[in-house]
Amino acid sequence: MDGALLKGKKGIIFGALNEKSIAWHVALRSWQHGAEIILTNSPVAVRMGTIGELAEKTGSKVIPADATSMEDIEKLIEESMDIFGGKFDFILHSIGMSPNVRKDIPYEQTNYPNMLKTFDISALSFHRILQTAYKYDAINEWGSVVALSYVAAQRTLTGYNDMGDAKALLESIARSFGYIYGRDRKVRINTISQSPTPTTAGSGVHGMESLLDFSDRMSPLGNATAEECADYCVVLFSNLTRKVTMQNLYHDGGFSSMGMSLKAIEQYKKSFEECP
Ligand SMILES: NC(=O)c1ccc[n+]([C@@H]2O[C@H](COP(=O)([O-])OP(=O)(O)OC[C@H]3O[C@@H](n4cnc5c(N)ncnc54)[C@H](O)[C@@H]3O)[C@@H](O)[C@H]2O)c1
Repeated sequence: MDGALLKGKKGIIFGALNEKSIAWHVALRSWQHGAEIILTNSPVAVRMGTIGELAEKTGSKVIPADATSMEDIEKLIEESMDIFGGKFDFILHSIGMSPNVRKDIPYEQTNYPNMLKTFDISALSFHRILQTAYKYDAINEWGSVVALSYVAAQRTLTGYNDMGDAKALLESIARSFGYIYGRDRKVRINTISQSPTPTTAGSGVHGMESLLDFSDRMSPLGNATAEECADYCVVLFSNLTRKVTMQNLYHDGGFSSMGMSLKAIEQYKKSFEECP
């Protein structure tokens, strides 16, 4: 591809379950931009999802790994370094799951073992991946690690439940590890705070349809799609953003800076027209 931004770069992409997954698009776009990639997901997702199709299309290998297992993550990093023939350049963390959301348990009645699982899968997994990559010195200088987040880390959005707390922790890990990895190895770590996106994980959120509509009306540029998020990830993996680190970068059409928009208030007013 002309103007390929990732020519000669190698990376691991976590979290492509099916063609709706944001990670699916990131993998595809990275490959189109010249990157060599390895795909990974939990063993059950590899069995149940369609990651094999993506692997075939991009000529990449799939290494199953449960992101809550230190053993799996170590094996993944070791095997990836064998396949790549040494260090690599980027990682995408695109992993999220809350048993409380799945089981419709409201935040004020949370189940703590479930909540710990939410944090383990959705946030501590990021620390685990970074710690392992750091231990194996797996990432080249000026390499880039990106995790996907959501504005519920800063603002309360009804129905997002303990995933808001998980995202706050995820973004904090990006800053804490970003300092250490930047200082010692010149590796940058950022989170992208993405618009609501119709994916498998997204559709688990209570009231997702209304949230998609509300965000779209509130955002001057409209919701950002998974494909657009993939473009942003490519730029962050590329050499064009070498001094960007420890940031939470909003990719949301402007939503996070809005209070109320004309489009949203017009829709809101309609509900009063029906009132006596
Ligand atoms: N969809 C949205 O509205 C939205 C908005 C902002 C941020 N995000 C974030 O984007 C990321 C990707 O989600 P998505 O929307 O593409 O949905 P998705 O369901 O396609 O991806 C979630 C992935 O997490 C993986 N996963 C779950 N448990 C795991 C485990 N133990 N080990 C390894 N992988 C595991 C799943 O297999 C799946 O591939 C998540 O972090 C999500 O919170 C999503």
